[in-house]
Amino acid sequence: MSLVMAAASNKDEEEELSESEEEEEEEEVLSVEEERSVSKESRNPRPKKRRESICAEKLSDDKYDSDLKVIEKSESEMSRISEICMKNMFFSHLDEQQMKTIQDTMFLIEHADGDVIIRQGDEDGDKFYCIDSGVVDIFINDGEERKLVKTCQAGDSFGELALLYGAPRAASCIASGDVRLWTLDRISFKRVLMKTTIDVRTVNKSFLEMVPLFSNLDEYELLTISDALHEESFEDSQAVLTEGEAGDKFYLIKEGNVVCTKCQSDGSIKEVKRLTTGEYFGELALLTDKPRQATVTAEGSLTVLWINRETFNNLVCIKELLVRNMGTYNI
Ligand code: CMP
Repeated sequence: MSLVMAAASNKDEEEELSESEEEEEEEEVLSVEEERSVSKESRNPRPKKRRESICAEKLSDDKYDSDLKVIEKSESEMSRISEICMKNMFFSHLDEQQMKTIQDTMFLIEHADGDVIIRQGDEDGDKFYCIDSGVVDIFINDGEERKLVKTCQAGDSFGELALLYGAPRAASCIASGDVRLWTLDRISFKRVLMKTTIDVRTVNKSFLEMVPLFSNLDEYELLTISDALHEESFEDSQAVLTEGEAGDKFYLIKEGNVVCTKCQSDGSIKEVKRLTTGEYFGELALLTDKPRQATVTAEGSLTVLWINRETFNNLVCIKELLVRNMGTYNI
């Protein structure tokens, strides 16, 4: 069963979250020393478990409003958190108040080279991490083989899956050198990120699954792209982007049609392409740093999903696909 499907369909299990589990959550914010000892403990090997039962966490619960723990921080720590969150697509759908809650409740933990921050298969995952500095390698055990699937750096985050879907940890996350992590406990994560993220992922992912460009991406990659998308609508004949301008967004057509035109040396306008639902445009300016190579105009009412330059640059999976397809243009 897919992660999102599971999240949406396990309402019954969701109701069964026991009282004792909720009590445990209230004690989850640990001091740096306690965190360090947890990370040392987690070096001890434990039996591996496969991701099998995925049950949705509660999406909303007023009880959590009162349990938020505000951790005192210096002004420079607060601004460092905003700086990091701005780079991370996870936080891109939050309003000001939600961002403030994130800043208030995040706490810093540090790990040394080789520390296992998250162990694949652990069923008691209760934290979400955002890297302040350092590098974290993500490994997935596939039978006997341990595969490095991602290397995360400052501004990247990890550990969301277990919290979103109440699932065992899907991968192991290991410090490569010293790492500083801004951390959210499960209560803050639930309160601020859970509903927005599940909503955004559910809607966007079902669209992305129909986009031919992404047909070879795995579920995790699709979910990551889902987090980064913003929706915008245009009226008939409205230009989405204009030839010659600097570009800072990549677009997917959620619904509708566009016409791409180019200005010729004699001043005439030539239609060069038509695109429809599921197709994309606007990638060239981001991949090449050149100005927009054509004007793209809505034909009828149009809804697009866009990704900004910064996020686009972090989505290695999309960039690789688009670079491959760039050969089809005559530029
Ligand atoms: P979680 O399952 O909570 O803990 C391990 C984390 O590794 C996971 O959340 C994701 O944040 C992260 N991760 C990075 N790449 C992958 C991947 N390809 N598959 C699964 N998890 C991944």
